[in-house]
Amino acid sequence: MLKRIRPLTIAILGKGGVGKTILTVLMAKSISTDYNYKLLLIDADPTYPHLSKMVKLIPEKSIEDLRADLVNTVLNKQDSADNIAESIDFKVYNAIVESKQFSLFSIGQPEGPGCFCPSNTILRKVIESISKDFDIILIDCEAGLEIVNRLVIQSVDIILIVSDISIRGIDTAEAIRKSAEKFTKYKRMGIIINKVKGDISSILKKLESLHFNLMGIIPEDIKVIEFDLNGKPLIDLPLESESYIKVQKLVKTLLK
Ligand SMILES: Nc1ncnc2c1ncn2[C@@H]1O[C@H](COP(=O)(O)OP(=O)(O)OP(=O)(O)O)[C@@H](O)[C@H]1O
Ligand SMILES: [Mg+2]
Repeated sequence: MLKRIRPLTIAILGKGGVGKTILTVLMAKSISTDYNYKLLLIDADPTYPHLSKMVKLIPEKSIEDLRADLVNTVLNKQDSADNIAESIDFKVYNAIVESKQFSLFSIGQPEGPGCFCPSNTILRKVIESISKDFDIILIDCEAGLEIVNRLVIQSVDIILIVSDISIRGIDTAEAIRKSAEKFTKYKRMGIIINKVKGDISSILKKLESLHFNLMGIIPEDIKVIEFDLNGKPLIDLPLESESYIKVQKLVKTLLK
């Protein structure tokens, strides 16, 4: 059991649809099945709470809902500033849902049009303030670079960039790596190639030429496709599934 002053924070990034959420779910499954760590999952994709659904934990309120509630309370002068400040921690804990295996909160989606910056600032503060209660935090990020550029994940231990077996996926991964190198403090960063089938030697060659740290290869898994087809939550994927076994190995390496 690792004893830490602050938790090990792992952010999962990548192009849209490459398998960030599935990797997060399978890592959560592995950590909660094989280890005894207090695990927090953060659904940091503001467009749709896929992660929550896949792990069967739906929070009543998102961080965005809390932000909107706070702004309304302040604007309507419904409470004193002191009371509002004191209640923030309590409210944040209300946005966390727990199961026996792990806890989860969701960044949510702003109601109005425009920028996610206010909620991202809150998200960053929230991560800092509650992280002390957990051993490991997994952050399922929104697609692309924005979450790195907006410094939501300014300080993480491990960045996992997911790609599919396309050159476009690798190009996006490379752009994310550059952005992360510029804007984020991290200790380790690597790439996971997902949905692998057939000969991927051209992809491996490209990764080598970019000096990318290849951390894992996950096959295209018929069980994942079947679960998806039937809308089943992926956290229930059988332990013997090909993709899960690969993710289990990855987790073992990361937690060494
Ligand atoms: N190893 C795999 N084998 C088969 N299908 C997979 C695998 N990994 C992901 N998929 C499928 O690819 C699709 C995208 O996966 P997922 O939602 O995890 O990607 P994402 O990167 O989180 O997407 P988004 O950018 O929309 O958040 C899903 O339909 C999923 O079932
Ligand atoms: Mg996703």
